[in-house]
Amino acid sequence: MYVCLCHGISDKKLRKLAIEQGVSDIRQIRKVTPLGSQCGKCIRSAREILESEITNTNSKHIS
Ligand code: FES
Repeated sequence: MYVCLCHGISDKKLRKLAIEQGVSDIRQIRKVTPLGSQCGKCIRSAREILESEITNTNSKHIS
């Protein structure tokens, strides 16, 4: 699913960045992608995806 339609950034790509590069917030995502730089509508859903990925990753480490 595309999170950012303006730049064609998918939720998979965001999750991959979170896992592989340790990107954990919108500011860091915006350093490595143009996410949110056009209409900005994607920022909220991108934040939710990042938060859920971080929660998932943390719970995997705990168990
Ligand atoms: Fe991401 Fe427009 S949908 S900047």
